[in-house]
Amino acid sequence: MAETLFIPQTQNRAEIYEALLPQVEAIIAQEKDLVANLANFVAVLKEALGFFWIGFYWVKNDELVLAPFQGTLACTRIGWGKGVCGTAWQKAQTILVPNVEEFPGHIACSSLSKSEIVVPIFEADKVVGVLDIDSDRLNDFSETDQKGLESLVKILEKYLPTMQK
Ligand code: SME
Repeated sequence: MAETLFIPQTQNRAEIYEALLPQVEAIIAQEKDLVANLANFVAVLKEALGFFWIGFYWVKNDELVLAPFQGTLACTRIGWGKGVCGTAWQKAQTILVPNVEEFPGHIACSSLSKSEIVVPIFEADKVVGVLDIDSDRLNDFSETDQKGLESLVKILEKYLPTMQK
């Protein structure tokens, strides 16, 4: 496996996401271990996009539990319907939060966080985890990020059934 990422030198995030898609697929397709794949997935996003917190929470019993991430110390457990992550799990849809202070029940793991996007991850029509990204800038996520991140998550979902958990 190539351990070097190609990241286009541009501020255009749509182009960056486009360039990441085949590379993420190549990384995930050749590894069966779930944690190893989640770890590399967040490493790729961190290297390419640089947001200050990027990570997964995985459904275990009736909670989301912290999984591979890059960033500062984070809360470890989030209930169904709680915070942005628990709401994305409950609604089974992507949630974009332009200003975290205006999201009722937002869980502040870091005072640096100003805006956030959470994308649910599905296996067999059930949410099995969420991808959570925090930015230190207000209103930092758009439909471009939603589309790009959902496309990347789709790759993960495609290989999930055959991964060792
Ligand atoms: N802000 C999230 C909690 C997780 S941290 O951002 C890493 C929430 O409200 O669910």
